[in-house]
Amino acid sequence: MNIVVNKAADTFHLYNDDISYIMTVLPNGQLGQVYFGKKIREREDYSHLVETATRPMSSCVFDTDKRFSMEHLRQEYAVFGTSDYRTPATEVVQKNGSRISEFCFRDYRIESGKPILEGLPATYTENAGEASTLITGLEDPVTGLRLELLYTIFAKGGSIARSARFSNHGRETLHLTSAMSLCMDLPDCCYDWMQFSGAWARERYPKTRQLEQGILSVGSMRGNSSHNHNPFVILKRPDTDEFQGEAIGFSLIYSGNFLAQAEVDTYDTTRVLMGIHPSCFDWKLEAGESFQTPEAVMVYTDQGLNHLSQTFHRLYQKRLARGYWRDRERPILINNWEATCFDFTEEKLLEIARTAKETGVELFVLDDGWFGERSNEHAGLGDWFANTKRLPQGITGLSKKIGEIGMKFGLWFEPEMVNKDSDLYRQHPDWIIAAPERRQSHGRFQYVLDFSRTEVVDYIYSMMETLLSDADISYIKWDMNRSITECFSNTLPADRQGEVYHRYILGVYELYERLIGRFPQILFESCASGGGRFDPGMLYYAPQGWTSDDTDAMERLKIQYGTSYCYPVSSMGSHVSVTPNQQVNRDTPLSTRANVAYFGTFGYELDLNVLSSEELEDVREEITFMKQYRHLLQFGTFYRLESPFSHNTAAWMVVDSDKKEAIVGWYRVLNGINLPFTRLKLKGLDPGTKYAVSGSVKSCYGDELMYAGLITTDISSGQAQGDEKMSRDFESRLYILKAEKRGIE
Ligand code: DGJ
Repeated sequence: MNIVVNKAADTFHLYNDDISYIMTVLPNGQLGQVYFGKKIREREDYSHLVETATRPMSSCVFDTDKRFSMEHLRQEYAVFGTSDYRTPATEVVQKNGSRISEFCFRDYRIESGKPILEGLPATYTENAGEASTLITGLEDPVTGLRLELLYTIFAKGGSIARSARFSNHGRETLHLTSAMSLCMDLPDCCYDWMQFSGAWARERYPKTRQLEQGILSVGSMRGNSSHNHNPFVILKRPDTDEFQGEAIGFSLIYSGNFLAQAEVDTYDTTRVLMGIHPSCFDWKLEAGESFQTPEAVMVYTDQGLNHLSQTFHRLYQKRLARGYWRDRERPILINNWEATCFDFTEEKLLEIARTAKETGVELFVLDDGWFGERSNEHAGLGDWFANTKRLPQGITGLSKKIGEIGMKFGLWFEPEMVNKDSDLYRQHPDWIIAAPERRQSHGRFQYVLDFSRTEVVDYIYSMMETLLSDADISYIKWDMNRSITECFSNTLPADRQGEVYHRYILGVYELYERLIGRFPQILFESCASGGGRFDPGMLYYAPQGWTSDDTDAMERLKIQYGTSYCYPVSSMGSHVSVTPNQQVNRDTPLSTRANVAYFGTFGYELDLNVLSSEELEDVREEITFMKQYRHLLQFGTFYRLESPFSHNTAAWMVVDSDKKEAIVGWYRVLNGINLPFTRLKLKGLDPGTKYAVSGSVKSCYGDELMYAGLITTDISSGQAQGDEKMSRDFESRLYILKAEKRGIE
């Protein structure tokens, strides 16, 4: 890994064994993008890669040159008003109303490692030599606004982390109305755009479209990253698939309003922008003040989508997630939400916990309904003290009883919200996000606390801190069940109202940071009505997130498959729930529910007491299995093999780092009869190693399993005879592969 600066040619080359990222100072002082892709050789000068032409109807920068137009140049951080008509990376409104800016290169510095982004989640380094950061300093001579562009290249893999920092060195107050985290101009548009979109209970479905002249974008204006779109997109070559071909992934480490956009211009170049959504964004920057954008990560690969995802998985698992739980196997939990909803007594909870303990579950999680006057959706949020009518000795008493059963105890909170029927609201009605004299829209009868205000965050922190110091709590599920409406803060002046959305999310990060600092061993799981805030920003604080409220195994196949394009298995909360499933009313076998949930953090979302003794025995076996293999399942290299979006069957697998063990998950939606034979080409194995495959009499070499394929054919490729057991809908199988020996028989 290196950063080479060629002063004579004004170029910067960031490279490692996999990628090169090259930029240069353009004749007008702006920074030009030269190349991002597979590693190319170091040269003194790359100016031959910068193309200019005299194009009709161009607006030109210099009066002596008809060729130099920003409209036709690829740039690092495009601005408004200086002959580029595409969407800029930033807009700065000045005192006289002008929005024109021009940032000229001034200086640079290189830092080993990676600077911390104050108050924001970001990737980090732990050891010397893991990464280097180039910080280029540019300045707009008219306003005195300094722009620093931060580029971190990691020693391994195809990742570059980027962000921008603005510092007002001038005398006048400025307003940033757009400040993207990255602007990436690519030389052509021969890409398919993949976004990960959906809705509550069907989050992060991959959707693919071809780029064309014009703009394609996804984003959120909800205050949270949302169920609807994820701050992650991929540009892939049309012939790229899971196993080969070029692709670039763009991921924003942020949990609030975002925009991800690709703009193809008249000459088929593509500009990607990613950052805080500029709509409603207006950050006042007084003289001497600075603004740091969130971080965005770009990953390049020429080895297909699985390779792209694996690069994100490694980076986000090891250098975005932090703390005590980062590398630890996650506890197998039981959560009472689908078992009881709001309808529970302490005895009922203990009953659930006792049976769960008996099957091997490690952590009991008490969900919504334990606090204030909360017995339905209308009351209690904001009153973070136990309802002693339900829990006579409070949370401290219950946590002790759970401890005596031999389990860890976890608790649900929704710290950002308040019901009007709560002590908190009665004391502080002005603490919610709401505009004066306007209707206050509710979501689930709850209102959003104004986390842009320090006193609000302080208050919630002290309530939670009191409770957590008192009781023995080792896990928190942090929920967030509505988006922001009527976005207005009572304490900010008119010209700072455009800051509320971002200040809100900074408040959320601040509360997380303080709680983690005070209770470093608590495992946080983020949640937002399931997967409404499943984003990299959250991963920095909570190493796992509740992937979706949809716990049906067939639905989860799609949700977890789509989520895996960016996020590691260890980040996906996944539980076995009852049948018929509460979301889709479907009956799937218990084994299939477990076979899907194993590829995640694993747990149960039901009252095990409702199961038959045979089923309970199965649960015991499932838990024993998960305990044996969870390190491999949660931290192994994950491959998508067959997509549930295009097949009646789906498959994925994990392989350990020395290729000695692997687990394949195979799933079939609908059963059939007299079907074709089926086989699955496995990945990531050692071709010369012989593997014992569970369920097969004969062991197979890695090359056989990868190139000839694992035979998955069953009775449905024919017709059951006599008392042969028929196959059924929603079946699944796990194949455990264990290396026997290397070499030829
Ligand atoms: C939404 C979450 O996604 C559920 O798991 C549950 O915690 C409910 N909220 C509780 O209100």
